[in-house]
Amino acid sequence: MEHILNVFWDNDLVGRIIKKPAGLIFQYSEAWIDSKDAFPISISLPLQKPPFEETISETFFENLLPESGIKEKIARFYGVSEKNNYAMLDAIGGECAGALTVLPENESIPEEGGYEEISIDELSRIIFNPDKKPLLIGRKDIRLSLAGSQDKLPVYSKDNKFFLPRGRKASNYIIKPPIDYLQDTVANEAFCMKLAENSGLLVPSVKIIGNKVNFLLIKRYDRFETETDVKRLHQEDFCQAMGIYSNQKYEAEGGPNLVDCFSLIDKNSSQPVLDKNRLLKFVIFNYYIGNADAHAKNLSFLYDNDRIILAPFYDLISTCVYDNLSKKMAMKIGSENRLEWIRPRHFERLAKAVDINPRFTLNTLENLGKQLSIAAKTLTDKFKKDSQWKNVLGKIVKVIEKHQRLLNEQWQNGVLGRPFRTTILLFVAFLTPLQPLPASHADLFISYMATANFVGKEQDSPVIIFILFLPPLLPAM
Ligand SMILES: Nc1ncnc2c1ncn2[C@@H]1O[C@H](COP(=O)(O)OP(=O)(O)OP(=O)(O)O)[C@@H](O)[C@H]1O
Ligand SMILES: [Mg+2]
Repeated sequence: MEHILNVFWDNDLVGRIIKKPAGLIFQYSEAWIDSKDAFPISISLPLQKPPFEETISETFFENLLPESGIKEKIARFYGVSEKNNYAMLDAIGGECAGALTVLPENESIPEEGGYEEISIDELSRIIFNPDKKPLLIGRKDIRLSLAGSQDKLPVYSKDNKFFLPRGRKASNYIIKPPIDYLQDTVANEAFCMKLAENSGLLVPSVKIIGNKVNFLLIKRYDRFETETDVKRLHQEDFCQAMGIYSNQKYEAEGGPNLVDCFSLIDKNSSQPVLDKNRLLKFVIFNYYIGNADAHAKNLSFLYDNDRIILAPFYDLISTCVYDNLSKKMAMKIGSENRLEWIRPRHFERLAKAVDINPRFTLNTLENLGKQLSIAAKTLTDKFKKDSQWKNVLGKIVKVIEKHQRLLNEQWQNGVLGRPFRTTILLFVAFLTPLQPLPASHADLFISYMATANFVGKEQDSPVIIFILFLPPLLPAM
């Protein structure tokens, strides 16, 4: 007997997932393919009648599930292997990121549904359960799945009240609890998301809630509200779009790099120029705040009325304020992934590789840096009344200042950078004795300054000045 899961978009049957010995395969339903509103649920799964082969089917659906530790716990709760994505989808595929619902073959989209009000204290109890059970697991009627390595809770919220969605009802917010082994991640993420907003990046609104312990309330960008209901918009992350498993989301694990991401936008976005510029800002912003965790699952496409656009940015957090987290960027910027080593020339290199004007890129780098400094000051004042976060917020501001200083030093040295300038000056120095010498050292000094001005703004090191002055002195000695 075939084991089958049905995949719905709203009330329509999009296709079915068929269990196979080594995994699963996906096939669109004929009715979906023939309908006038049909769209492919993934860039990696174009509309076609035959089933897709296993890897490409599984990568899309595996990426809907939680990752690592959370996935393991859920699998243990349901008595299945965490590698068994079919069984995991069967258990928790009810409400996923985006608009898809995965249900066992004998179930259809529930006719009914409702919202169960829950107090903030009860929410806290669910979130901080002592046995560290994954959130809402095993609750009747609730089958929610959100990707990511942190546990999350999709809720419905209105007028400062909270509800758990049941049956067909959709959530409109996501709650992210703090990560217990890292200091003040809620304040860190809230601060960085607001910083992004104040610097002109498109992000969902966030708010810190909770009484004794805080958690982050994030508005879902893949939901919109009508007068009577919450409607779902489809989305897919960049790993899904490229057909890559979640455990390869980092470039260092063979996952996508920035050139792949820009090219994915180029080929598939309905507004490629705008979205490439938005991605560029995302890369620059993450550099400034020291977010080394901006991997391909932290970027998504949103499917909005026949248009595919880069979704608002999420999961913006300064990871480098934590000593126990890697300082290597999830994706290299112009072949460099060590945060401390990144310079304007790496952004220039990236710009050339992804076909964006390098001068425009450097201007964006400079301007976003200025906007960020102003936004960081205003925001720190706003957050200051909650002095318990002073430590972590202070560290983020220092990271921004440091990264700005590193870039500024380089700018003062000239964008071309010291090694290149040194080569030019040495070349000039060697040429000098072969040419009619300038009448005086003053002339030579002026020609040196002209060269220095051409390649940069800064006075160069005394050593180079000495080398330049040496040839005219030699005959006199
Ligand atoms: N505001 C939002 N609206 C809609 N979907 C969202 C929103 N924020 C996050 N998501 C979805 O939830 C997924 C997980 O979110 P997020 O990246 O914040 O979690 P995480 O557990 O911190 O991830 P990571 O494993 O990168 O640390 C995202 O890949 C995205 O699909
Ligand atoms: Mg994430």
